[in-house]
Amino acid sequence: MNSLKWDHTMELGHEAMDADHKQLVALVNQLAEGIANNLGKQAYDAVLDDLMAHTRAHFGMEEKLMAACSYPYADEHRSEHARLIKDARDYRAKFDAGAEPSISLLYFFDQWLTRHILASDRELASFLAGNK
Ligand SMILES: [Fe+2]
Ligand SMILES: [Fe+2]
Repeated sequence: MNSLKWDHTMELGHEAMDADHKQLVALVNQLAEGIANNLGKQAYDAVLDDLMAHTRAHFGMEEKLMAACSYPYADEHRSEHARLIKDARDYRAKFDAGAEPSISLLYFFDQWLTRHILASDRELASFLAGNK
């Protein structure tokens, strides 16, 4: 199973954001390993809990950054965060209801994370870089 790769395209040049994103990518990769090695629902649940907790903390950090610099696209960015959290919770509910963790779960988190980092977070990081 392919792991989500961290590479320079995901590096946004904002130390705190990059550090969090790296950690989130590592958790998605841990999830991939758990699924590939059939580590069982318990291991998988723990990684998902971790992923959700770190994501919430990370989104909170970005939202503080946006508020502090009166980021003009803060509302859109916040809505995107809220939608990502809702999608992840809905997705997780399916698995709590008995669905088996699979490659589609991984694909979901892969897309969920990389699309947001490469688009919305990149815009925020460039704005922050211009406002130092
Ligand atoms: Fe974000
Ligand atoms: Fe982010």
